[in-house]
Amino acid sequence: MRKRSCTKQLICVCNVKMVPVHAACALFSLTPLLVLGVPPIWTQPEQVHLAYPGEPGSMVVTWTTFSKTESKVEYGILGGQFFEMTTKGNTTLFVDSGEEKRKLYIHRVILTGLKPAVNYVYHCGSDEGWSDVFYFTALNDSTSFSPRFALYGDLGNENPQSLARLQKDTQLGMYDVILHIGDFAYDMHEDNARIGDEFMRQIQSIAAYVPYMTCPGNHEATYNFSNYRNRFSMPGQTESLWYSWNLGSAHIISLSTEVYFYLEFGLELLFKQYEWLKKDLEEANKPENRAVRPWIITMGHRPMYCSDDDQDDCTKFDSYVRLGRKDTKPPAPGLEDLFYRYGVDLELWAHEHTYERLWPVYADKVYNGSKEQPYVNPKAPVHIVTGSAGCREKTDSFNPNPKEWSAFRSTDYGYTRMKVFNTTHIYLEQISDDQYGKVIDSIWVVKEKHGFSAWF
Ligand SMILES: [Fe+2]
Repeated sequence: MRKRSCTKQLICVCNVKMVPVHAACALFSLTPLLVLGVPPIWTQPEQVHLAYPGEPGSMVVTWTTFSKTESKVEYGILGGQFFEMTTKGNTTLFVDSGEEKRKLYIHRVILTGLKPAVNYVYHCGSDEGWSDVFYFTALNDSTSFSPRFALYGDLGNENPQSLARLQKDTQLGMYDVILHIGDFAYDMHEDNARIGDEFMRQIQSIAAYVPYMTCPGNHEATYNFSNYRNRFSMPGQTESLWYSWNLGSAHIISLSTEVYFYLEFGLELLFKQYEWLKKDLEEANKPENRAVRPWIITMGHRPMYCSDDDQDDCTKFDSYVRLGRKDTKPPAPGLEDLFYRYGVDLELWAHEHTYERLWPVYADKVYNGSKEQPYVNPKAPVHIVTGSAGCREKTDSFNPNPKEWSAFRSTDYGYTRMKVFNTTHIYLEQISDDQYGKVIDSIWVVKEKHGFSAWF
């Protein structure tokens, strides 16, 4: 094919420019190679998503281009003049570690001075290409605000069963924030990170409208979590691995359970995170802080407890996440005692492709508030495992004989909704996508007292 087209072109060129036949033929035989060697111009923004940087009145917009461009967000108050404000940000080059060493330009722009609870319209990009127009509500920074969350883990590029329902919920304005508790895309690095691109395009329909807050899971581990670290923009200086932030009457801590499993990326990370968690919990427990934000909620990918039948860490009595590791030097502390000591109220997990609600539990024992009202003034943290959003690995199955701390479980695809009503009441419900959005489980966690002393 190439030879023939060369001949055709040759006649034309020779007639016009009188180029010697052999030279022209050589030149044109190289043409396809030259074309392949020229990078395409891809300045169109895509994969737009929001995150809350933790400072009241702020929002960070993150997106991707495949050629280098400026990073600008043009925005304005909904109902006012479109794009009357412009904020510039920065661009980072992310070179994927796959064979092709694909280059992604990740753009980040932090908007500040936003008015709480006000709706904004925005687009992002540069004069070489603008995204669609999106909108968001600036988070209300009042401690009396009652934020509404969607939360889940383990949502993939293939078989993302809950995504359509989440898209509709989000666009109906049902959530202020989405928490994705690890395991994205399956896997972001695959096909030279094209699966990551595809997944980020898929979630743009929710993540460009509300802050999409994340923590890493095991499916992000390839190339030392580089796709995760580069694509998301969580608060703090830890490349989104662990951080905390406040909303309404809640202090929310996001952590990496993966530091307990991928020691090849540094045992020191495990200790660094542990020390950071301790400091963060100490700060959150200062009487003046806990008085206004009494709820401490953690999110991490791999649970301490679960009753699935897959031999995962949470199925074992000596779970690494719960009790730490004794096979490291020095031994690594687990998280259960730390969270109990600092009075963590609610612990959100995923990884198991099922939904499981636990009775208040500590050290493998149930500590209900009372027999009649287990979640009213519980005497230990409440755990929720919600990893059934949908991915190519399908759902998991349960051990037929769960321990006594297992309160409710479901193998339906779905996700969890949470509303932090006020300083004493949190509501949680589980949505089954298999049952067309039916609420299959719900609880109120009621606490008149928070902190370590609340356990007694
Ligand atoms: Fe996982």
